[in-house]
Amino acid sequence: MLNSAPTIETLLNHRSIRKYTGEPISEEMLTAILEAGRAVSTSSFLQATSIVRVSDPAKRTAFRQISCDMTADEYAQAQADGKRLGHGYVESCAEYLVFCMDAKRHHQLADVNTDWTEVTLIGAIDAALMAQNVLAAAESLGLGGVYIGSLRNDIARASELLELPKHVVPLFGLCLGHPDMTSKINQSQRPRLPLDVLVSTDTYKVASESDLAEYNEKVREYYNGRGLDLDWKAQIAATFGGDVRPFMLEYLNAQGFAKR
Ligand SMILES: Cc1cc2nc3c(=O)[nH]c(=O)nc-3n(C[C@H](O)[C@H](O)[C@H](O)COP(=O)(O)O)c2cc1C
Repeated sequence: MLNSAPTIETLLNHRSIRKYTGEPISEEMLTAILEAGRAVSTSSFLQATSIVRVSDPAKRTAFRQISCDMTADEYAQAQADGKRLGHGYVESCAEYLVFCMDAKRHHQLADVNTDWTEVTLIGAIDAALMAQNVLAAAESLGLGGVYIGSLRNDIARASELLELPKHVVPLFGLCLGHPDMTSKINQSQRPRLPLDVLVSTDTYKVASESDLAEYNEKVREYYNGRGLDLDWKAQIAATFGGDVRPFMLEYLNAQGFAKR
């Protein structure tokens, strides 16, 4: 019988886990956490999600390569130079699950139109909710994990690796494993926006500049504590300041999504 920690305690203890002990996840635990994912709510009972469990080490390595946004040649050269780039945890985690938006089954069963942008929202929301059930269940059992959005650096290659048909799109991965709590990178929790910035009542409240500056300072202190010269503003600018995976619409269209 598995021993699961209380829900709120589990959720409040969350931090992304990027270093693992190497111990495998038992079949019993894996089944329990996947069942927890399966039980999640789903838009219009559409169940527009699939999970691909990636166990092949060569595929794990390919996903690691995708995470550093380099060509295969550049990556091979970096390896030859002794550099270990990218998200090593994609290789070292006990389980690597890829969550996909999936309208394939709907096309198999019925004559349907799934190229509406709304269907893309449905699929992405369904997959994210299922993944969070999986992660929360895993964390409640003492496991840890980290999401991997970096597979979208080369979403076409990620699709190819998993042999995804049309109407299926890989959205993000989830690394899972037994946390190595001796590792510093697993020990701290990143400060979140305070509740009174996050939540407003009846009408949307624009955050005040002072609240944002105060939070930005908190994040700076967190990063300084980790020896990094970074704050939330810089992180936002690094992510949203330039092109944001501009190939995405074309890829989604080719997979039969978001055409209108
Ligand atoms: C959809 C999604 C994609 C993510 N992709 C990555 C990723 O590619 N690499 C990574 O190291 N962390 C990734 N993360 C983890 C976030 O960086 C992390 O959740 C965030 O910084 C907050 O830290 P915490 O989870 O430790 O509280 C991702 C998180 C989400 C929700």
